[in-house]
Amino acid sequence: MAYNLLKGKRGIIFGALNDMSIAWQVAEKAHEEGASFVLTNTPVALRMGEIDELARKTGSQVIPADATDVAQLEGLVKQSMEILGGKIDFILHSIGMSPNVRKGLTYDNLNYDYYQKTLDISALSFHKILLVCRKLDAISEWGSVVALSYVAAQRTLYGYNDMADAKALLESIARSFGYIYGRDKKIRINTISQSPTMTTAGSGVKGIDRLLDFSDRMSPLGNATAEDCANYCITLFSDLTKKVTMQNLFHDGGFSSMGMSLRAMDQYDKSFRECQGD
Ligand SMILES: NC(=O)c1ccc[n+]([C@@H]2O[C@H](COP(=O)([O-])OP(=O)(O)OC[C@H]3O[C@@H](n4cnc5c(N)ncnc54)[C@H](O)[C@@H]3O)[C@@H](O)[C@H]2O)c1
Repeated sequence: MAYNLLKGKRGIIFGALNDMSIAWQVAEKAHEEGASFVLTNTPVALRMGEIDELARKTGSQVIPADATDVAQLEGLVKQSMEILGGKIDFILHSIGMSPNVRKGLTYDNLNYDYYQKTLDISALSFHKILLVCRKLDAISEWGSVVALSYVAAQRTLYGYNDMADAKALLESIARSFGYIYGRDKKIRINTISQSPTMTTAGSGVKGIDRLLDFSDRMSPLGNATAEDCANYCITLFSDLTKKVTMQNLFHDGGFSSMGMSLRAMDQYDKSFRECQGD
Protein backbone atom coordinates (compact mmCIF):
# COMPACT_ATOMS: atom_id res chain seq x y z
CA MET A 1 0.00 0.00 0.00
CA ALA A 2 1.43 3.38 -1.03
CA TYR A 3 1.01 6.64 0.90
CA ASN A 4 2.55 9.14 -1.55
CA LEU A 5 5.25 9.80 1.04
CA LEU A 6 7.82 10.80 -1.57
CA LYS A 7 5.56 12.62 -4.02
CA GLY A 8 7.61 15.13 -6.02
CA LYS A 9 10.91 14.13 -4.42
CA ARG A 10 14.07 13.51 -6.43
CA GLY A 11 16.69 10.96 -5.47
CA ILE A 12 19.87 9.09 -6.31
CA ILE A 13 19.98 5.38 -5.45
CA PHE A 14 23.37 3.68 -5.31
CA GLY A 15 23.83 -0.09 -5.23
CA ALA A 16 20.98 -1.91 -7.00
CA LEU A 17 22.63 -4.95 -8.60
CA ASN A 18 19.78 -7.46 -8.88
CA ASP A 19 16.34 -7.98 -7.39
CA MET A 20 17.85 -9.32 -4.14
CA SER A 21 19.70 -6.02 -3.53
CA ILE A 22 18.34 -3.87 -0.74
CA ALA A 23 18.72 -0.85 -3.07
CA TRP A 24 16.49 -2.58 -5.64
CA GLN A 25 13.70 -2.90 -3.08
CA VAL A 26 14.19 0.74 -2.05
CA ALA A 27 13.90 1.85 -5.69
CA GLU A 28 10.65 -0.08 -6.14
CA LYS A 29 9.16 1.40 -2.96
CA ALA A 30 10.38 4.92 -3.76
CA HIS A 31 8.70 4.63 -7.16
CA GLU A 32 5.46 3.45 -5.54
CA GLU A 33 5.64 6.42 -3.17
CA GLY A 34 5.84 8.93 -6.02
CA ALA A 35 9.59 9.71 -6.20
CA SER A 36 11.66 10.16 -9.33
CA PHE A 37 15.28 9.10 -9.15
CA VAL A 38 18.46 8.12 -10.91
CA LEU A 39 19.93 4.64 -10.44
CA THR A 40 23.68 4.21 -10.33
CA ASN A 41 26.27 1.48 -9.97
CA THR A 42 29.75 0.65 -11.28
CA PRO A 43 30.10 -0.05 -15.01
CA VAL A 44 30.97 -3.69 -14.18
CA ALA A 45 27.88 -4.09 -12.02
CA LEU A 46 25.74 -2.55 -14.75
CA ARG A 47 27.04 -5.16 -17.19
CA MET A 48 26.64 -8.08 -14.77
CA GLY A 49 23.43 -7.05 -13.06
CA GLU A 50 19.87 -6.52 -14.11
CA ILE A 51 19.49 -2.81 -13.45
CA ASP A 52 17.94 -2.02 -16.86
CA GLU A 53 14.89 -4.04 -15.82
CA LEU A 54 14.56 -1.91 -12.66
CA ALA A 55 15.03 1.28 -14.67
CA ARG A 56 12.20 0.26 -17.01
CA LYS A 57 9.91 -0.63 -14.13
CA THR A 58 10.51 2.64 -12.30
CA GLY A 59 10.89 5.00 -15.28
CA SER A 60 14.44 5.86 -14.17
CA GLN A 61 17.67 6.55 -15.94
CA VAL A 62 20.88 4.69 -15.11
CA ILE A 63 24.20 6.53 -14.80
CA PRO A 64 27.39 4.50 -14.32
CA ALA A 65 29.72 5.70 -11.56
CA ASP A 66 32.38 4.17 -9.36
CA ALA A 67 31.55 5.66 -5.95
CA THR A 68 35.26 5.78 -5.01
CA ASP A 69 36.00 8.18 -7.88
CA VAL A 70 35.27 11.84 -7.07
CA ALA A 71 35.28 12.96 -10.73
CA GLN A 72 32.73 10.29 -11.65
CA LEU A 73 30.59 11.28 -8.66
CA GLU A 74 30.65 14.92 -9.77
CA GLY A 75 29.46 13.89 -13.21
CA LEU A 76 26.76 11.70 -11.71
CA VAL A 77 25.40 14.38 -9.38
CA LYS A 78 25.38 17.10 -12.07
CA GLN A 79 23.68 14.80 -14.58
CA SER A 80 21.14 13.64 -12.00
CA MET A 81 20.07 17.23 -11.28
CA GLU A 82 19.68 17.87 -15.01
CA ILE A 83 17.67 14.70 -15.60
CA LEU A 84 15.45 15.16 -12.54
CA GLY A 85 15.05 18.90 -13.00
CA GLY A 86 16.38 20.23 -9.71
CA LYS A 87 18.20 19.55 -6.46
CA ILE A 88 18.21 16.11 -4.89
CA ASP A 89 15.94 15.33 -1.91
CA PHE A 90 17.22 11.90 -0.95
CA ILE A 91 20.24 9.65 -1.47
CA LEU A 92 20.67 5.97 -0.66
CA HIS A 93 24.23 4.67 -0.18
CA SER A 94 23.85 0.88 -0.45
CA ILE A 95 27.44 -0.03 -1.27
CA GLY A 96 29.72 -2.60 0.31
CA MET A 97 32.59 -4.82 -0.79
CA SER A 98 35.70 -6.33 0.80
CA PRO A 99 38.39 -7.84 -1.43
CA ASN A 100 39.79 -9.55 1.69
CA VAL A 101 36.47 -11.31 2.29
CA ARG A 102 36.27 -12.21 -1.38
CA LYS A 103 39.75 -13.73 -1.32
CA GLY A 104 39.11 -15.56 1.95
CA LEU A 105 41.81 -13.68 3.87
CA THR A 106 41.13 -13.62 7.61
CA TYR A 107 41.34 -10.54 9.86
CA ASP A 108 44.70 -11.65 11.27
CA ASN A 109 46.11 -12.04 7.77
CA LEU A 110 44.74 -9.07 5.85
CA ASN A 111 46.18 -7.72 2.63
CA TYR A 112 46.55 -3.97 3.32
CA ASP A 113 45.92 -2.89 -0.26
CA TYR A 114 42.65 -4.81 -0.12
CA TYR A 115 41.93 -3.37 3.32
CA GLN A 116 42.21 0.16 1.91
CA LYS A 117 39.89 -0.83 -0.93
CA THR A 118 37.35 -2.16 1.56
CA LEU A 119 37.40 1.13 3.45
CA ASP A 120 37.33 3.20 0.26
CA ILE A 121 34.42 1.35 -1.34
CA SER A 122 32.34 0.69 1.76
CA ALA A 123 32.93 3.86 3.81
CA LEU A 124 34.97 6.67 2.20
CA SER A 125 32.64 6.56 -0.80
CA PHE A 126 29.95 7.88 1.56
CA HIS A 127 32.15 10.84 2.50
CA LYS A 128 32.96 11.45 -1.17
CA ILE A 129 29.28 11.48 -2.16
CA LEU A 130 28.47 13.95 0.64
CA LEU A 131 31.44 16.18 -0.17
CA VAL A 132 30.61 16.31 -3.89
CA CYS A 133 26.97 17.10 -3.15
CA ARG A 134 27.95 19.85 -0.74
CA LYS A 135 30.39 21.45 -3.19
CA LEU A 136 27.73 21.41 -5.91
CA ASP A 137 25.04 22.47 -3.44
CA ALA A 138 23.10 19.53 -4.83
CA ILE A 139 20.84 18.54 -1.91
CA SER A 140 17.66 20.47 -1.03
CA GLU A 141 17.04 21.80 2.47
CA TRP A 142 15.58 19.05 4.67
CA GLY A 143 16.98 16.47 2.26
CA SER A 144 17.81 13.03 3.64
CA VAL A 145 20.82 10.80 3.10
CA VAL A 146 20.88 7.17 4.30
CA ALA A 147 23.66 4.57 4.24
CA LEU A 148 23.28 0.90 5.17
CA SER A 149 25.30 -0.53 8.02
CA TYR A 150 25.55 -3.66 10.17
CA VAL A 151 25.81 -4.36 13.91
CA ALA A 152 29.40 -5.62 13.40
CA ALA A 153 30.33 -1.91 13.70
CA GLN A 154 29.64 -2.21 17.46
CA ARG A 155 30.01 -5.91 18.20
CA THR A 156 32.35 -8.56 16.94
CA LEU A 157 30.71 -11.17 14.76
CA TYR A 158 32.83 -14.06 13.57
CA GLY A 159 33.88 -13.77 9.94
CA TYR A 160 32.66 -10.21 9.21
CA ASN A 161 36.31 -9.29 8.89
CA ASP A 162 37.45 -5.81 7.74
CA MET A 163 33.88 -4.91 6.80
CA ALA A 164 33.32 -4.35 10.53
CA ASP A 165 35.90 -1.56 10.47
CA ALA A 166 34.36 -0.11 7.32
CA LYS A 167 30.92 -0.03 8.94
CA ALA A 168 32.29 1.67 12.07
CA LEU A 169 33.83 4.34 9.83
CA LEU A 170 30.64 4.66 7.79
CA GLU A 171 28.59 5.32 10.92
CA SER A 172 31.12 7.85 12.15
CA ILE A 173 31.03 9.71 8.81
CA ALA A 174 27.23 9.94 9.15
CA ARG A 175 27.68 11.70 12.51
CA SER A 176 30.55 13.97 11.48
CA PHE A 177 28.99 15.08 8.20
CA GLY A 178 25.53 15.05 9.75
CA TYR A 179 26.59 17.85 12.07
CA ILE A 180 28.06 20.02 9.30
CA TYR A 181 25.32 19.43 6.73
CA GLY A 182 22.57 19.74 9.35
CA ARG A 183 23.95 22.97 10.77
CA ASP A 184 24.40 24.63 7.38
CA LYS A 185 21.66 23.19 5.19
CA LYS A 186 19.19 21.30 7.40
CA ILE A 187 20.17 18.09 5.65
CA ARG A 188 19.91 14.91 7.68
CA ILE A 189 22.29 11.97 7.50
CA ASN A 190 21.68 8.57 9.09
CA THR A 191 22.76 4.97 8.87
CA ILE A 192 20.39 2.01 9.11
CA SER A 193 21.87 -1.06 10.77
CA GLN A 194 20.10 -3.87 8.97
CA SER A 195 19.67 -7.58 9.85
CA PRO A 196 21.73 -10.04 7.83
CA THR A 197 19.97 -10.39 4.48
CA MET A 198 20.46 -12.89 1.66
CA THR A 199 21.82 -10.68 -1.13
CA THR A 200 24.90 -10.91 -3.34
CA ALA A 201 26.99 -8.98 -0.77
CA GLY A 202 25.34 -10.87 2.10
CA SER A 203 26.16 -14.27 0.62
CA GLY A 204 29.87 -13.34 0.79
CA VAL A 205 29.73 -13.20 4.60
CA LYS A 206 31.27 -16.28 6.18
CA GLY A 207 28.62 -18.78 7.37
CA ILE A 208 25.74 -16.55 6.20
CA ASP A 209 23.16 -19.38 6.48
CA ARG A 210 23.97 -19.99 10.14
CA LEU A 211 24.24 -16.27 10.82
CA LEU A 212 20.78 -15.70 9.35
CA ASP A 213 19.37 -18.52 11.48
CA PHE A 214 21.12 -17.32 14.65
CA SER A 215 19.98 -13.70 14.15
CA ASP A 216 16.46 -14.82 13.44
CA ARG A 217 16.32 -16.95 16.60
CA MET A 218 17.79 -14.14 18.68
CA SER A 219 15.47 -11.40 17.38
CA PRO A 220 12.04 -11.19 19.01
CA LEU A 221 10.57 -9.90 15.74
CA GLY A 222 12.74 -12.11 13.51
CA ASN A 223 15.18 -10.83 10.89
CA ALA A 224 14.22 -7.75 8.91
CA THR A 225 14.00 -8.53 5.19
CA ALA A 226 15.27 -6.36 2.34
CA GLU A 227 11.68 -5.23 1.78
CA ASP A 228 11.30 -4.27 5.45
CA CYS A 229 14.53 -2.30 5.14
CA ALA A 230 13.22 -0.52 2.05
CA ASN A 231 10.08 0.52 3.93
CA TYR A 232 12.21 1.96 6.71
CA CYS A 233 14.36 3.86 4.19
CA ILE A 234 11.22 5.42 2.71
CA THR A 235 10.18 6.77 6.12
CA LEU A 236 13.63 8.33 6.52
CA PHE A 237 13.42 9.95 3.09
CA SER A 238 9.94 11.28 3.86
CA ASP A 239 9.06 14.54 5.63
CA LEU A 240 7.79 12.53 8.62
CA THR A 241 11.32 12.12 10.02
CA LYS A 242 12.68 15.64 9.54
CA LYS A 243 14.44 15.91 12.88
CA VAL A 244 16.17 12.52 12.81
CA THR A 245 19.84 12.95 12.03
CA MET A 246 23.33 11.66 12.93
CA GLN A 247 21.82 8.38 14.11
CA ASN A 248 22.67 4.76 13.60
CA LEU A 249 19.19 3.25 13.56
CA PHE A 250 18.95 -0.46 14.31
CA HIS A 251 16.54 -2.19 11.98
CA ASP A 252 17.04 -5.76 13.07
CA GLY A 253 13.92 -7.14 14.78
CA GLY A 254 15.47 -6.40 18.20
CA PHE A 255 18.70 -8.39 17.70
CA SER A 256 21.02 -5.61 18.87
CA SER A 257 19.36 -5.45 22.31
CA MET A 258 19.36 -9.20 22.94
CA GLY A 259 21.78 -11.38 24.89
CA MET A 260 20.05 -14.76 24.73
CA SER A 261 16.59 -15.82 23.58
CA LEU A 262 14.48 -18.89 24.28
CA ARG A 263 14.59 -19.93 20.61
CA ALA A 264 18.38 -19.69 20.50
CA MET A 265 18.68 -21.50 23.87
CA ASP A 266 16.45 -24.33 22.59
CA GLN A 267 18.67 -24.79 19.56
CA TYR A 268 21.79 -24.68 21.71
CA ASP A 269 20.31 -27.31 24.07
CA LYS A 270 19.46 -29.51 21.11
CA SER A 271 22.97 -29.46 19.65
CA PHE A 272 24.43 -29.93 23.16
CA ARG A 273 22.32 -33.08 23.65
CA GLU A 274 23.34 -34.34 20.20
CA CYS A 275 27.02 -33.87 21.16
CA GLN A 276 26.44 -35.96 24.27
CA GLY A 277 24.76 -38.65 22.16
CA ASP A 278 21.28 -38.30 23.82
N1 LIG B 1 23.08 -8.27 3.04
C1 LIG B 1 23.31 -8.10 4.32
O1 LIG B 1 23.36 -9.05 5.13
C2 LIG B 1 23.49 -6.70 4.86
C3 LIG B 1 23.28 -6.44 6.24
C4 LIG B 1 23.51 -5.15 6.71
C5 LIG B 1 23.94 -4.16 5.82
N2 LIG B 1 24.15 -4.45 4.50
C6 LIG B 1 24.64 -3.42 3.61
O2 LIG B 1 23.67 -3.11 2.65
C7 LIG B 1 24.34 -2.52 1.52
C8 LIG B 1 23.82 -3.14 0.24
O3 LIG B 1 24.21 -4.49 0.13
P1 LIG B 1 23.25 -5.66 -0.35
O4 LIG B 1 23.17 -6.62 0.77
O5 LIG B 1 22.01 -5.12 -0.93
O6 LIG B 1 24.14 -6.38 -1.46
P2 LIG B 1 24.37 -6.08 -3.04
O7 LIG B 1 25.53 -6.94 -3.41
O8 LIG B 1 23.12 -6.26 -3.78
O9 LIG B 1 24.79 -4.54 -3.07
C9 LIG B 1 26.11 -4.07 -2.92
C10 LIG B 1 26.31 -3.04 -4.02
O10 LIG B 1 27.55 -2.31 -3.90
C11 LIG B 1 27.92 -1.99 -5.22
N3 LIG B 1 29.30 -1.52 -5.32
C12 LIG B 1 30.44 -2.23 -5.02
N4 LIG B 1 31.51 -1.46 -5.28
C13 LIG B 1 31.05 -0.26 -5.71
C14 LIG B 1 31.69 0.95 -6.11
N5 LIG B 1 33.02 1.07 -6.13
N6 LIG B 1 30.91 2.00 -6.51
C15 LIG B 1 29.55 1.89 -6.51
N7 LIG B 1 28.90 0.77 -6.12
C16 LIG B 1 29.65 -0.29 -5.74
C17 LIG B 1 27.70 -3.32 -5.95
O11 LIG B 1 27.78 -3.21 -7.34
C18 LIG B 1 26.35 -3.71 -5.42
O12 LIG B 1 25.31 -3.17 -6.22
C19 LIG B 1 25.84 -2.69 1.77
O13 LIG B 1 26.36 -1.52 2.34
C20 LIG B 1 25.85 -3.81 2.78
O14 LIG B 1 27.05 -3.84 3.54
C21 LIG B 1 23.91 -5.70 4.00
